[in-house]
Amino acid sequence: RKGNATKEQIRLHNLVQQLPRAIIIGVRKGGTRALLEMLNLHPAVVKASQEIHFFDNDQNYARGIDWYREKMPFSFPYQITIEKSPAYFITEEVPERIFKMNSSIKLLIIVREPTTRAVSDYTQVLEGKERKNKTYHKFEKLAIDGNTCEVNTKYKAVRTSIYTKHLERWLKYFPVEQFHIVDGDRLITDPLPELQLVERFLNLPSRISQYNLYFNATRGFYCLRFNIVFNKCLAGSKGRIHPEVDQSVVTKLQKFFHPFNQKFYQITGRTFNWP
Ligand code: A3P
Repeated sequence: RKGNATKEQIRLHNLVQQLPRAIIIGVRKGGTRALLEMLNLHPAVVKASQEIHFFDNDQNYARGIDWYREKMPFSFPYQITIEKSPAYFITEEVPERIFKMNSSIKLLIIVREPTTRAVSDYTQVLEGKERKNKTYHKFEKLAIDGNTCEVNTKYKAVRTSIYTKHLERWLKYFPVEQFHIVDGDRLITDPLPELQLVERFLNLPSRISQYNLYFNATRGFYCLRFNIVFNKCLAGSKGRIHPEVDQSVVTKLQKFFHPFNQKFYQITGRTFNWP
């Protein structure tokens, strides 16, 4: 298995810990884990298994770049290391910090239809509350301002889905060519074409094939086949059942996101069939 090298293997093969040459910066609940795990099917890609939170967490960032490098897996020099920390996308300080590390780094953003993403975000927080036996508001209450009946732009799950607003902050540091947008909805239903676009963006030969991905009807998702003996599906926390949301609230959110989506398509050159 990749990632767990012994001291002997490190010495024998000149394995090194490399800073990432590509980072999945977000979006939270866009399918960031699935994207990282699927890219790891490629023989020239190694992944940092955990979210490192180096650039968004001031304490971690203060530990310095060597601390960050030591969090990376051992790899062959020809391989590229990828990490994902979805908080990077929405955190103010991150673009400048990443730019200072490597101004030519490749940045991956996986997005989903914004209202669905917001509900997914809510569902994850709800689950955390329920685990601690706490009650939580309904989605409708959080997403809509009770006084004005307008969309509550202070609610984090709403703000995170205003993709263009965040992207525009990043564009003060990086040219648009350095970003690649992944369609998170298509990664669920038909992952291979999305992965092939990423291979191309990373200048990697096309190595991920239909063989590496099989649909698991029980899970309702694609799972990963690394080789004849090793395959895996993502953890059960990926693919939660979302609560039913009042249709009028869904429509209100979709209308709210619409102009921001148009801007996002215009900037990125990638258009989605979002309502
Ligand atoms: P839901 O829980 O809303 O279904 P992230 O890893 O960024 O938190 O994203 C989680 C989302 O990844 C899940 O959202 C799920 O729909 C999506 N996903 C995409 N491909 C998947 C796969 N092959 N297996 C499980 N979840 C997948």
